[in-house]
Amino acid sequence: MADDKKRASGLKPVERRTFLRYSLIGSVSAGLGGFALSSLGFLWPRPGDGLFGEEDLGDARELADEINDTRAPIRVPEGGVSILVWDPSISAAERNYGADHAILDDTTGLMAVDSQNCPHLGCGVPWCQSSQWFECPCHGSRYNRYGEWTGGPAPRGLDRFVSFINDDGRFIVNFGEHLTGPARTANALEQPPEGPPCVDA
Ligand code: FES
Repeated sequence: MADDKKRASGLKPVERRTFLRYSLIGSVSAGLGGFALSSLGFLWPRPGDGLFGEEDLGDARELADEINDTRAPIRVPEGGVSILVWDPSISAAERNYGADHAILDDTTGLMAVDSQNCPHLGCGVPWCQSSQWFECPCHGSRYNRYGEWTGGPAPRGLDRFVSFINDDGRFIVNFGEHLTGPARTANALEQPPEGPPCVDA
């Protein structure tokens, strides 16, 4: 009776073995497709991968004034960095950062930290205006106003790039010279949070 129905519909019954074979091919293809897409995600240029070598990020004095006035770093998305001010008159800061970061005058320096790649697992690390810290939304790592580690699972402070001020007073960042972030124990700034956090610990 059942065979009569199949014959009447004109459709050939799919054999169990054929069905299993197609299912297996389908799942392997889907898996390979997913792998290829995720690999592409790693290889694809992201915002922040667009600056190479020495780049002029602006007039050093104007940048410092804007950062001090707004009490916020200046984000440069195409470079994946945030520009900070730092104080070379703090002896620990001068010792840690004086050699590789721009110095404008006795109490003002600039640095470009890699705020696009948290040293833990690579998430972007936004600035939190209320706490005056960088706070990673992924697993809660925190960094002070100099990008120094203050808490969470990250193994160190934010990475950064070599920078200097040229003869024309321009802030130059060398995106070809990447610097590993300061060790967890480096706490030149000793800055407590200055308000409520943006990310729950
Ligand atoms: S990626 Fe930032 S804390 Fe994990």
